[in-house]
Amino acid sequence: MDLEHAKTILNHLYADVDGYTISAQARKKLSYEDKAHTYGEITPDAFYKILQDVEPMEGEKFYDLGSGTGKAVILAHLLFDFANCRGIEILEELNNTAQTVLARFILEYRQTLPEKKQTLLISFIHGDIMNENFLDGDVFFTHATCFYDELWVRMIGRLEYLKKGARVIVVTRTLDSPSFQLVRRAEYSLSWGQATVNSYVKIV
Ligand SMILES: C[S@@+](CC[C@H](N)C(=O)[O-])C[C@H]1O[C@@H](n2cnc3c(N)ncnc32)[C@H](O)[C@@H]1O
Repeated sequence: MDLEHAKTILNHLYADVDGYTISAQARKKLSYEDKAHTYGEITPDAFYKILQDVEPMEGEKFYDLGSGTGKAVILAHLLFDFANCRGIEILEELNNTAQTVLARFILEYRQTLPEKKQTLLISFIHGDIMNENFLDGDVFFTHATCFYDELWVRMIGRLEYLKKGARVIVVTRTLDSPSFQLVRRAEYSLSWGQATVNSYVKIV
């Protein structure tokens, strides 16, 4: 699907969704503060280019690690032919919102899409990216700007187990590991401002 069509669908699905407010309210209810829960979103134009850079292939599996209200997952599904697009999000309220948007997408749009697209899967998991299994993925996105050092080091430890050829797109942070090769570093405009986006391929 072309970007303009995808944006029209996304704008409609998210017209009444404010991820910043949902995240702030969810965090207030927690007994602890976690900098990694800081909210921010992709923008469709930037995300399209970011994904194009890693050349997604038909049938591959996409994961958004820390998926918020699910915009990146829905867009990845609309713009490319991933067999499966999954989001993993730790804050229950954000994940519930993603589930509600997905239900609306299925009800209002899925039957209007080409038959082949209708067979491709989308799902949202409420969980911690440190515990969930995502090793079957091919293309990963993580908006890791506020993932503090200790969390990020543990995260790199988990990414070491990905399959050779997997691509990992990281906002702001760098994936410093001999198992990964940088394929592109570029600046993109995201919901909160200009961000450096680093894309890697797993080489061993
Ligand atoms: C900057 S937001 C990105 C949202 C979405 N990926 C996007 O780019 O539009 C980062 C998200 O990661 C989530 N997060 C932080 N730590 C996490 C963890 N350990 N497991 C799962 N999600 C986490 C936060 O709650 C937040 O929704």
